[in-house]
Amino acid sequence: MLGIVFTTLIEMLEEKVSPEFADEVITEAKLENDGAYTAVGYYPFSELQKLVGVLVNKTGKPVDVLLYEFGIYLFGKLAKAHGQVMAGRDGILDALSVLDNDIHVQVRKLYPDADLPTFKVVAQTDKTMRLQYYSTRELASLAEGLMDGAAAHFGQRISRTTVKLDQAHTYEFSITVED
Ligand code: HEM
Repeated sequence: MLGIVFTTLIEMLEEKVSPEFADEVITEAKLENDGAYTAVGYYPFSELQKLVGVLVNKTGKPVDVLLYEFGIYLFGKLAKAHGQVMAGRDGILDALSVLDNDIHVQVRKLYPDADLPTFKVVAQTDKTMRLQYYSTRELASLAEGLMDGAAAHFGQRISRTTVKLDQAHTYEFSITVED
């Protein structure tokens, strides 16, 4: 998993709680490198699981809520750091429809070893989309936060439902853009 994910999570804790809290979380997670991540380095996914595990204990919030909140924050940081990747997209459904064929393709050029998920549009109208998400990391709640963060980026409001499918590691999001 790419370092920018870790540096952004730590930054969120520093900003939303305090630098002391972020230090405590890093210490308690007993990370391999004491939390000395660089944005362009790669680290095991298990390190993120350790950090989130400590956060569950310290905040009492469920994993899904923490990942969702992080997703919203992460979208803001990614869109700011790599604005060109979103250039030319005119709304949330437009962005989601090109996630696999354009947005994450550009990300792959920036970060060749990125662990990216797969998104497949299975139905789309002007205002609605059914989107399947596949990742062995099963970060569906993170994806929900990223989608809501992206909608906010375009000044749109969406409603969504998520269903876990029978296929391994696969979720389906049904998204509606509200007027
Ligand atoms: C439009 C909404 C977006 C959604 C729903 C989305 C979804 C995701 C998800 C769910 C992951 C976690 C990895 C996994 O599930 O296995 C991920 C990773 C990532 N995404 Fe996206 N993404 C979006 C937009 C973007 C944008 C705009 C950028 C950059 C400008 C970006 C860059 C990345 C990067 C760098 C990673 C980390 C890869 C790694 O850890 O190796 N994404 N994305």
